[in-house]
Amino acid sequence: MKTNSKNELYDALSKKKAVPHFNINNLEWTKWILEVCQEMQEPVVLGVSEGASRYMGGFETISCMVNGLINDLKITIPVCLHVDHATSFETCKEAIDHGFTSVMIDGSRHNLEDNIALTKQVVAYAHPRGVWVEGEVGAIGGSEDGLDNELAYAKVEDCITFVKETAVDSLAPALGSVHGLYKGEPHLDFTRMKEISERLKIPLVLHGGTGIPDDLIRKAISCGIAKINVNTEFQVAWHNAVLPFVRDNPLVYDPRKVIKSGEPAMKDAVRNKIELFRNEK
Ligand code: 13P
Repeated sequence: MKTNSKNELYDALSKKKAVPHFNINNLEWTKWILEVCQEMQEPVVLGVSEGASRYMGGFETISCMVNGLINDLKITIPVCLHVDHATSFETCKEAIDHGFTSVMIDGSRHNLEDNIALTKQVVAYAHPRGVWVEGEVGAIGGSEDGLDNELAYAKVEDCITFVKETAVDSLAPALGSVHGLYKGEPHLDFTRMKEISERLKIPLVLHGGTGIPDDLIRKAISCGIAKINVNTEFQVAWHNAVLPFVRDNPLVYDPRKVIKSGEPAMKDAVRNKIELFRNEK
């Protein structure tokens, strides 16, 4: 079942848990994530970065692949197909026209005024089509799609102005998390997170879910985070399993066997994140 994630995110916000946003990189990633989420009866947001979209062939291919897997695997949990960090209106429009149910417009490279103008344009196209829009204020640092960004903490007043002016559905305020592996401990600003959440009352999104200690994830959820994005951690889990397989089986050349050797480790990592985001213990 396709969803724009509205019900799931507000449900998570009220129950103090987080909807998992897992980035997909290829067919196997998508299949494995859907299988684990179905097994655990967990709604999921499948995030597609611009780089991942180019890698897989484009939005039409991805949309057909996800629809096909939902049917073939008899997936009944809510599945949101979401563009992650789109940098232009055209990218968002193309994704929406190909059946994506949610988009993130990342105007963080612009000043606040231009970020607002760009995000407003996306909202105007998305909302009449029932598509959810996530915006970003400040700049989430680290490395994504091979590009490095400087971290810039979001200011509370900028977040309030941004949401009021744009009418975005959810907000990713940059508050210390980064994409990729951390160099040292993350420094999340929970005071700002809580204030932004209490004043805006919309679901907040935590990017860079890889490598944030479990207690900080729980604290972020208690401060209004209702969706958490993870990508790198699953890639590392998969890689750590595939590397010894390839070393021990140099004559295995069937790509299905090589790729599949990372499936149990990757799926375990997905299960662990879902458990954590449920925030039940
Ligand atoms: P990580 O790769 O650090 O888990 O971040 C993923 C992300 O935030 C995608 O938007």
